[in-house]
Amino acid sequence: MPAISFQSVSKTYSSARSQTGPVVRALDDVSFDIQQGEFFGLLGPNGAGKTSLISILAGLSRASSGTVKVQGSDVVTDYASARRKLGVVPQELVFDPFFSVREALRIQSGYFGIKKNDDWIDELLVSLGLADKANANMRQLSGGMKRRVLVAQALVHKPQVIVLDEPTAGVDVELRQTLWQFIAKLNKQGSTVLLTTHYLEEAEALCSRIAMLKQGRMVALAQTSELLKAASSNVLRFKIDSELPRHLADQARITGRIVQFPAHSAHEIEQYLAAIREAGLVAEDVEIRKADLEDVFLDVMAEKAVEEPLELNLAGVAT
Ligand SMILES: Nc1ncnc2c1ncn2[C@@H]1O[C@H](COP(=O)(O)OP(=O)(O)O)[C@@H](O)[C@H]1O
Ligand SMILES: [Mg+2]
Repeated sequence: MPAISFQSVSKTYSSARSQTGPVVRALDDVSFDIQQGEFFGLLGPNGAGKTSLISILAGLSRASSGTVKVQGSDVVTDYASARRKLGVVPQELVFDPFFSVREALRIQSGYFGIKKNDDWIDELLVSLGLADKANANMRQLSGGMKRRVLVAQALVHKPQVIVLDEPTAGVDVELRQTLWQFIAKLNKQGSTVLLTTHYLEEAEALCSRIAMLKQGRMVALAQTSELLKAASSNVLRFKIDSELPRHLADQARITGRIVQFPAHSAHEIEQYLAAIREAGLVAEDVEIRKADLEDVFLDVMAEKAVEEPLELNLAGVAT
C-alpha cells in the first residue's frame, strides 16, 4: 500500500467575487503514488499547484475530482483516519498568539486524543532547537522560531507521513540544517516525507524521487538520479563584463555577470568559447560543471509548453 496516493486529482477555483468571474484550474489530472519510507520532492514554480495539492491531502480543501488516500484512508470519506496518519507543516505561518510554545503543543496533542505527551514534546523541542523557548509566548517568537513550532506541531502525534510545504522559505541557514537533520532522521526511522521547496539544492540532496508540476500538470516524475542523468550533461560557466551578443544570450542562463551554457560535448564547449572570443569578449573564471537539479528543472519548465490555456474566462479580471 502506498503512503500517499493521488489519483486523477483536479482542482478548479472559481472567483469568490462573482459567479461569472475567472476560473483557475490549479490542478489538472494529477496522478502519482509515494511509497512508504520515500523522501519525495514536489517541485514547481510559484502557482504550479503544490499548495493546492497539499491542502487537498491535508483535508483543508476538496478536490474538484479525483481521489487522495493516505495509507489507504480516503482523505474525504475517511478523514479522521487519514488526518491522524499525516503531519502537515503548512506554507503559511498560522498560530495562536495567546499560548506558550509548550501549551500550543499540548493542545495539538489533545486534538489527536493524546493526553500525556510531554516526553515526546520535550524531544521535539530539543531536536528543533526550541528548548529555551518552551514557555515563551507564540507572539514573542521570530518568524524562524514560529516555523520551528509549526514543525513541532505537525509531528506531535508521531505521524507516519510527514508533509512539508516550503518549510525553509525565508528561514536562516541554521534552522534549515537543524530541520533537515531531524527530518532525515525520522525518514531513516521509517517515516515517509513529502516536501515542496524552492531550494533545488535541498531537493537534490534530500529527495530520492521527484515530481515536477507546471500550471497544474505533472511534467516530470522520476528518481532524482535519473533526472540528473537525463540532463544536458555539463554546464559551461564563466564571468563576463560586457553584454553577450543576442544569438549567444538566447542560449544562456545569465545572472548578473555569470553566464551559463548547457553543453553536451567538449566540442560544444569549444564552440561557445570561440564565439565569445570572436565577439571580442573576455570570459573570466571559466569552469565546467555537471548539470544539477536546477538545470534539469529549468530545462523541464522551458520544454513542456502547456497546450491549453489554464486560466479560463479571463474577461473582467482585475489585475
Ligand atoms: N483559494 C484560492 N482561490 C483562488 N485561486 C487560488 C486559491 N489558491 C490557489 N489559487 C490559484 O491556484 C494556482 C495554484 O496555486 P498554489 O497551489 O498556491 O501553487 P504553488 O503552491 O505551487 O505556488 C494559482 O494560480 C493560484 O493563484
Ligand atoms: Mg505554495
